[in-house]
Amino acid sequence: MTGPEQRHPVWGGRFAAGLDPAIHAFTNSLPFDRRLAPHDLVASLAHVRMLLETGVLEHGDAAAALTGLSDLLADLEAGRVAVEGPDEDVHGWIERTLVERIGEPGRRVHTARSRNDQTGAALRLWVRQACGELVAAVLGLVGTWLDVAERHRESWMPGYTHLQRAQPVSLAHHLLAHAFALLADGERLRGIHDAAGRSPLGAGALAGTSHRIDPDRTAALLGFVGPYPNTQLAVADRDYVAETSFAAALLMTHLSRWAEEIVLWTSAEFGFAALSDRVAQGSSLMPQKRNPEAAELIRGKTGRVIGDLVALLTTLKGLPLAYDSDLQEDKEALFDAADTALGSLRAAAVLASGLDYRPERMAAALRGGFLTATDLADHLVRRGVPFRAAHERAGAAVRAAEARGLELAELPLETLRDACPEVGREAPAELDPEAAARARRSPGGPAPERTGEQLRSARERAAELRDWLEGLEPPPILRAHREGHLLDRALS
Ligand code: ARG
Repeated sequence: MTGPEQRHPVWGGRFAAGLDPAIHAFTNSLPFDRRLAPHDLVASLAHVRMLLETGVLEHGDAAAALTGLSDLLADLEAGRVAVEGPDEDVHGWIERTLVERIGEPGRRVHTARSRNDQTGAALRLWVRQACGELVAAVLGLVGTWLDVAERHRESWMPGYTHLQRAQPVSLAHHLLAHAFALLADGERLRGIHDAAGRSPLGAGALAGTSHRIDPDRTAALLGFVGPYPNTQLAVADRDYVAETSFAAALLMTHLSRWAEEIVLWTSAEFGFAALSDRVAQGSSLMPQKRNPEAAELIRGKTGRVIGDLVALLTTLKGLPLAYDSDLQEDKEALFDAADTALGSLRAAAVLASGLDYRPERMAAALRGGFLTATDLADHLVRRGVPFRAAHERAGAAVRAAEARGLELAELPLETLRDACPEVGREAPAELDPEAAARARRSPGGPAPERTGEQLRSARERAAELRDWLEGLEPPPILRAHREGHLLDRALS
């Protein structure tokens, strides 16, 4: 197909000689866009069905093409056919294979279509599938975190700012923070899935067609909300790719922050958690090692996924309307971003369930950092002291405790009163870190009743996402393919 002896099957007419093999090798996208074959076949079925309904194709040709495309899709799904060959891209592979199988009618399926609108339609279907898979994986990880949080509502630990011990929280409170960030990622992916449901088919190369087509019908057959309002935008738009890449990059950023904590927490210095055997990896040289390599790689892969997003936006930013070959570069970046995010989420869920938390080490870290100094200031505020003055006095109490090698809660009342004359007798009890965490009942706080609410709300949001996922319908044309109804007169 590529030597000078043969003309190109898809566009050879105006060329006297074949394409140089080096140019073919450089420009062909089949090695990576082959995974779009099932999606392209679904989009092609919708296109041909529309051509049948509008009378653009005669019944006999359209029926043969629908049957041929459907058989090819079935063979692909069953692994009976491999997407490989001398073709320039997956779209060329489908057309060539179809023509080899059914002959003349296969040469009619490209009526009122270009690879420019074709590739967009297939990629949108792929994005929708990827968003669904990512949401499912988000739910897996969030579920694991919430289960651990449920058991640790009263496992007290320091919360950090500047990576310095700051105020007491619970392990549940900490994990809920990560869970809510991931739930927002899941909801973002849901929105991207829904927005990707706009059909470019009928836009042709860029300027539509003079055939009397029905792009609304094609869109409906794909389960999309409708066609684009403008045919140039239809072939030029890659917002759905950019949005998916951004969602993957932000999700990875969230995972990476958690992974960094796992690296820290499983170190001897922190010791807040230990890696069980199924998630720890050893050293080829140092027999004693237990390394958090999955966590490190989640952190490491995040850089690559952010790179994918930057690569994509950089590709898009200089492109004149409408279609440019640069757009073919969208796929490897998108596939890498989505595949890496999916793999990372799945690894993270295993890792999260393979950690043995050490509440006693967390509790020990509550000592020595004067984590309840704010609570002393708040105690004084309740007794009428302006907060700035209370802050100053609590600071003096910290100095006194530090000088005596005592915790704030252990300071004798008289010493405490030297620094803070307004303290009441109940102050020392309030300065115990656990009591202080339990008293933090403000909305979203670490008190057990508040983390209980947060758990319920996180579970509700997870359930909503799960319902959405389970309610997703395959495109009507795909259902017709599966049920063998592609040629029914009334196909809804
Ligand atoms: N392989 C191309 C892509 O991925 C399909 C569209 C090609 N159109 C063209 N005129 N070369 O975007």
